[in-house]
Amino acid sequence: MRNTLIHILIFIAVLVAISALAIWFNLGPVAHSAAASAASVHRSVWDGVYTYAQADRGGALYDRYCGACHGRYLEGIAQLPSEPVWVRKPPLSGGEFRANWNDMSLGDLFERFRISMPQNAPGTLTRQQNADVVAYVLQQNGYPSGGQEMMPERSLLDTIKIEWW
Ligand code: HEC
Repeated sequence: MRNTLIHILIFIAVLVAISALAIWFNLGPVAHSAAASAASVHRSVWDGVYTYAQADRGGALYDRYCGACHGRYLEGIAQLPSEPVWVRKPPLSGGEFRANWNDMSLGDLFERFRISMPQNAPGTLTRQQNADVVAYVLQQNGYPSGGQEMMPERSLLDTIKIEWW
């Protein structure tokens, strides 16, 4: 009699365990697909967020509007011949630049260009031109190009993260 009771208890315990597992596996795929769609929303500069042609256009703009201060190779310039004092113009490529912008979004970088640069004439470039220069700066920092142009939309650019590596 006592034995039968133990058997029944074990049987119930096994049933509970099996149904717990069944629920777990049933919910598993749901949780996974939610995580997957969240991951596809998260994009970074490593995902090919501009095209080669766009970076090319940006390069021509950079040479015209930015290069005199930030250097032909985005290396930064400490002092121009015309400047009586040291006015540091920071590099737009390499470790310092990447570290400054690491974890921020392309929207932040785009707005920085748009609002404050070129320093001697802010607001000269159109939104499209600013996006093209952002594309060029990404290219010169070694981030890959892709199949789609970067749109000059703040809300879209805000979803793309700058990740150092
Ligand atoms: C007349 C010189 C001059 C020109 C032209 C110029 N800049 Fe600058 N830029 C500066 C100076 C000086 C600073 C540092 C002071 C500051 O932040 O305003 C700077 C800072 C920056 C920064 C911040 C860098 C960092 O890591 O924090 C970015 C980004 C930038 N410039 C982008 C551009 C772009 C893009 C252009 C061309 C559209 C441009 N600049 C044209 C002088 C210039």
